[in-house]
Amino acid sequence: MTPEDFFLLAAQQKPGWTLDRRFYLDDGIADAEMRAIWNRRWLFAVHAVELAEPGSFVTLEIGREPVLLVRGRDREVRAFANVCRHRGSRVCTAPHGRAARLVCPYHAWTYDLDGTLCSDVRGHGASAEELGLKPHHAIEVGGLVFVCLGDTPPDIGPMREAFARWFAPQGLPRARIAASVDYRVAANWKVVFENNRECLHCPVAHREYIRANYDIHLADPRREAEIAARMADEALRWTAMGLEAPSLVSDMTAAWWRVNRTPLVPGFVTESLDGAPIAPPMGQYPTHDVGTLRATIFPNFWMHGSGDHAVTTRLLPDGAGATRVRVVWLVDANAEEGRDYALDRLMPFWQRTSEQDWEICENVQRGLGSAHYRPGPFETVKERNVAQFVAWYLDEMRRGGTP
Ligand code: FES
Ligand SMILES: [Fe+2]
Repeated sequence: MTPEDFFLLAAQQKPGWTLDRRFYLDDGIADAEMRAIWNRRWLFAVHAVELAEPGSFVTLEIGREPVLLVRGRDREVRAFANVCRHRGSRVCTAPHGRAARLVCPYHAWTYDLDGTLCSDVRGHGASAEELGLKPHHAIEVGGLVFVCLGDTPPDIGPMREAFARWFAPQGLPRARIAASVDYRVAANWKVVFENNRECLHCPVAHREYIRANYDIHLADPRREAEIAARMADEALRWTAMGLEAPSLVSDMTAAWWRVNRTPLVPGFVTESLDGAPIAPPMGQYPTHDVGTLRATIFPNFWMHGSGDHAVTTRLLPDGAGATRVRVVWLVDANAEEGRDYALDRLMPFWQRTSEQDWEICENVQRGLGSAHYRPGPFETVKERNVAQFVAWYLDEMRRGGTP
């Protein structure tokens, strides 16, 4: 596909309708997304607690880019291209670990935690100063570590300020990772995110989720008064606790991120199967019953934080037709498995909901593969956030990439 063909195709997309199938299937467009989105935007990488000590490192692959995150002796988190400056080997090959220095497994070139080369390379006719690891941008926000592979990262200021404030009581910088599950979902990453941006499918797909949450009733005039009263009650209760007041779940605060807190249905003090607590209150929460703190960041992160645990989801693209997804469950730093929580009570709510979603997404991807697929219309209220995601995506692609 030539750049002209791509811009023409992007311009032809009808607002409020699903995209042409080529956006979900075409390798050229997937490559362009790497340049326009995955190598330009801020991406959620890991939880800060995964880089607990100086020398802690995590490796990940963002498309074809091997990335290394390391906590330095000064406790700063840094990101680098995980690519040796000698002949290009990956420097760290383990998914995570801890090291005093970073030693390439090929010829043992050795880098300090700040990326500077420590090896004597005079025999190569070069100086160590010019051969440090290529740095990427990295930032810690509310216990989440973001990376940006682009030279000029987008302005993260307003998001950073809002997340620092909203996330403070959840205590993620000191949380314990209770569990994580990795999935390879056979669907394009946009199919996965689009599915996350609406709850029109919830009554059909999510028996557990809809018992705890109001999402499906938000546009229902019969529930309007009840929900408004609940929001008002919770606003008083939460602001008295020093938390931000509740807000409606669905509107994006900005084009690429949102954060809010919303009440759970009475009877549910946390997102568990029966609504009963599943771990001690987390972070600075004085009680379990604080609704859910929800956050969404395009293109690869969402979270639901209850009073006693938080569940984050990270997406990374794996070509046009697949997405690598990691779901992480976090509890308070002092909570102990067996004594304070059990995984078979902590995990099912979001494990089931997530896996129900992956099945939906794989089913959509198979439909997109059909020559008979044609774009379809979004529901104007309940799928408006999908339309917003698609508009954001097309905008980013127009700005940053051509096949
Ligand atoms: S490629 Fe890393 S030391 Fe040779
Ligand atoms: Fe869903």
